[in-house]
Amino acid sequence: MRQMKKIMTLCALVCLAFSAKAVDANYNVIPLPQKIELNKSAGAFKLDNTVKIVYQGGKDLKRNAQFLADYVKEGVGLTLPVAGKASKGKVIVVKADLKDANHEAYKITVTDNSVTINGASAAGAFYGVQTVRKALPQESASEVSLPLGQIYDYPRFGYRGGMLDCGRHFFTVDEVKNYIDILALHNINQFHWHLSEDQGWRIEIKKYPNLTKVGAWRKRCDIVSGDTVADPQPYGGFYTQAQAKEIVKYAADRYVNVIPEIDMPGHMTAALASYPNLGCTGGPYEVRSTWGVMADVLCAGNDQTIAFIKEVLNELMDIFPSKYIHVGGDECPKANWEKCPKCQARIKSLGIVSDGKHSAETLLQNYITETAYKTISKRGRRMIGWDEVLDGNISNNIIIMSWRGTKGGIAGARKGNDVLMTPTSYCYFDFYQSNDHSTEPKAIGGYLPVKTVYSFEPMPQELTAEQQKHILGPQENLWTEFIATMPHVEYMVLPRIDAMCEVQWTNPERKNYDDFKARVPHMMKIYDKKGWKYAKHILTEK
Ligand code: ACM
Ligand code: ZN
Repeated sequence: MRQMKKIMTLCALVCLAFSAKAVDANYNVIPLPQKIELNKSAGAFKLDNTVKIVYQGGKDLKRNAQFLADYVKEGVGLTLPVAGKASKGKVIVVKADLKDANHEAYKITVTDNSVTINGASAAGAFYGVQTVRKALPQESASEVSLPLGQIYDYPRFGYRGGMLDCGRHFFTVDEVKNYIDILALHNINQFHWHLSEDQGWRIEIKKYPNLTKVGAWRKRCDIVSGDTVADPQPYGGFYTQAQAKEIVKYAADRYVNVIPEIDMPGHMTAALASYPNLGCTGGPYEVRSTWGVMADVLCAGNDQTIAFIKEVLNELMDIFPSKYIHVGGDECPKANWEKCPKCQARIKSLGIVSDGKHSAETLLQNYITETAYKTISKRGRRMIGWDEVLDGNISNNIIIMSWRGTKGGIAGARKGNDVLMTPTSYCYFDFYQSNDHSTEPKAIGGYLPVKTVYSFEPMPQELTAEQQKHILGPQENLWTEFIATMPHVEYMVLPRIDAMCEVQWTNPERKNYDDFKARVPHMMKIYDKKGWKYAKHILTEK
């Protein structure tokens, strides 16, 4: 019995020592804030279980405050109450009355009895909350010391994007939310959701039910998780409109806008399998089970195609409130159009002739681009297209997504179009993370280590200051030919997205790769807490 008591006392002492653990916060997070001014000798705010989180404002700030409480719980295990009114004692205040022209700016002020997170908007306050979250140690503690001082922060680019291809492989609603969680942790505010492909149509369109009855399913999924597997099972899935709206709301709560993409007129085999009349030959077509650029595309000479584009885009805009709507435009072979009487008749009726640089069929694509552009503009939204759309005489209001290097983006900005930068060599996270492919899951090709992502400078120096204003921001893209599961998605994105978010957020003069590299392991602790899989090459990089 005495022995038992002794053991219990020892246990209690160990537990006390453990729970009384005091640890320090570190504001050098990812992305690195623009300005950190510490007053270390003055002491610290002691975050312990007597602290209350107080929000000043409406439901957006309340939600931000609740997020912070969740992050504190997740990070250090402390349960802090959230209240709408200030009270006595130590507080973390979340508010949004900072005067700054950049609405995503925030300021954090730490005194010995308060931490004030003040955003220029609720979004700014959210990023302040993210910084506090990432500054916290990721271990149980009864007290965390936050050094006294101030952080003033704002993003370099207003558009900070992340893309997920749900066409090649389908990810569930919860998995898409998980991807949005990853984006939000990295201060990314645009989720580009690739929703149609040759291998699957993923969004319910009520006027065209076959798109999801037929187009969402392929006969088999040969390539699963990077291995070539002959899998005879039908494969597919789609999002109902209600589910898509649920995702829009989930993202909006985290200050992420959802940009839907319906890729046209190429990459449309799933739609053609659903409605063969939309193709040049009339089919039959089959939802593809293999990868590549397919010859079968929408028939540009068919009035039913034009009606389809307008109706689909209008329904899409009913689901997605995003001011940006992506209509693809990449990789559209023209061989069918050369032979199709309807397409040739359209070329004739529009008076399209080759300009020497582009064939008449290449220029015919602009008819599709213009149809989409007018449909989208009519509703006050802005169209995004891959850089191929520059082959036509397009409106200056179309936003160019530059993926074949930055030259399309540079040409677009010179022409007066806004531009998003996603060049493959810096932004394609489906590329390999090592040159030793034997240790990696099968990938599409390429080689894109974290260091290369980090070295990306999205602002072309050859542009004038006026033209540079057209560069809205950079984006990472994750195509999923060889990526079938969410842990594999996580592995491809983490930690390359750490480098990307610092490219998106932090001014270049603040960037330093060695310094960044030293900050990545702390992010990995958060990934561990979330149960996310991540690549570790950077830890052993020379
Ligand atoms: C693309 O990667 N085909 C836009
Ligand atoms: Zn045709």
